[in-house]
Amino acid sequence: MIRAAVFREPGQPIAIEALSLAEPRAGEVRVRMTASGVCHSDLHVRDGDWPRPGPIAMGHEGAGVVEAVGPGVTALRVGQAVALSWLVACGSCRACARGLPWACSDSPSFGHAMPDGATVLTTAGSDPSPVLSYCGIGTMAEATVVPVAAAIPLPDGVDPAVAALIGCCVSTGVGAVLKTAVVPAGATVAVIGLGGVGLSCVMGAVLAEAGRIVAIDRVPAKLSTAGELGATDGLLAGDDRTATIEALRDLTDGGPDFVFEAIGRVPTVELAIESLPIGGTAVLVGMTPLASRASFAVFPFVDGSRRILGSNYGFADPAEDFPRYAQLQLDGRLPVDRLIDRRIALDDLEPAFDRLRAGDGLRQVIVFD
Ligand SMILES: NC(=O)c1ccc[n+]([C@@H]2O[C@H](COP(=O)([O-])OP(=O)(O)OC[C@H]3O[C@@H](n4cnc5c(N)ncnc54)[C@H](O)[C@@H]3O)[C@@H](O)[C@H]2O)c1
Ligand SMILES: [Zn+2]
Ligand SMILES: [Zn+2]
Repeated sequence: MIRAAVFREPGQPIAIEALSLAEPRAGEVRVRMTASGVCHSDLHVRDGDWPRPGPIAMGHEGAGVVEAVGPGVTALRVGQAVALSWLVACGSCRACARGLPWACSDSPSFGHAMPDGATVLTTAGSDPSPVLSYCGIGTMAEATVVPVAAAIPLPDGVDPAVAALIGCCVSTGVGAVLKTAVVPAGATVAVIGLGGVGLSCVMGAVLAEAGRIVAIDRVPAKLSTAGELGATDGLLAGDDRTATIEALRDLTDGGPDFVFEAIGRVPTVELAIESLPIGGTAVLVGMTPLASRASFAVFPFVDGSRRILGSNYGFADPAEDFPRYAQLQLDGRLPVDRLIDRRIALDDLEPAFDRLRAGDGLRQVIVFD
């Protein structure tokens, strides 16, 4: 039996339930979880922004230690520290064939189950019923069974909470800057929304040696954290969108070369696009509720050769990028640990969601004993 955070109905509190976990089969490993971050994407599911089938063991930003391997598995050994990837590429769709695993259209992760559709979790009791695992990994649980391709070995010595964050917000934000946008040295960058994802964009912009990095949020404390991570300027966003755009233009000599929207709200998506100078690029990283639509003035967009890029998972190739980001952290060049301000227990998930909804604090990470 393991304990897991189980989503059943949108808008309802997530309960911690005791579930049975299957033994790993061929091509699978069991991972004893050490840490799981609380990402806003989990909150989107919990609050019903994205319809998802229940019951489902939540969590997609996690790390752990391989505890058992299925028959024939040689790529991982028991005791290996791993970060889990929430997107296992199918390997055969059009995007996969082009070497773009982050754009896979047929990932088994979309089904919240194993590649053959099997579930690894069942409810306890005399009449067990299946429980899905979010993105096929369900990290807010004491243990999980995942496809081998989802468990990415990390170098020795990585703090489990840091490893967990590499599984989502770090790869998403750093990759958006380095891999999606390929920000050149000296470029001006703005980041709107300074949660785990946005602060990772700031860290990515520092690595890219951006010339000016303007960090924008409506919570003053977030601006200070961004400054400690290397943002050159902080801009407190109020309700007056025009004032924010004007202040951003003043700080960036007419608008940022690259603006990263890391919230997922229509007004800030539109603000990002509107703030662009001629030739500027808006990179959309935040995820809106499913039905949202945004608009922009087409003529100046085309006339000014502006660009909008969507960035899923920071264009991550987890097997290659997770160890690379982990090594950068160990080398002191990617201070992921500074994003973590609360280590909480699995039972404290609902208060953690309340804080995340309110923009209170930085990344919260569930740690397991
Ligand atoms: N593209 C991807 O692959 C991917 C991966 C992970 C997460 N996401 C998405 O990224 C977004 C951010 O995730 P997170 O976990 O960092 O969230 P978060 O809630 O921790 O951070 C959001 C930040 O935006 C700020 N904010 C909210 N409204 C604002 C406004 N109007 N103006 C300025 N600042 C405002 C908040 O204060 C907070 O600091 C979410 O939508 C999440 O679903 C996308
Ligand atoms: Zn996430
Ligand atoms: Zn694919």
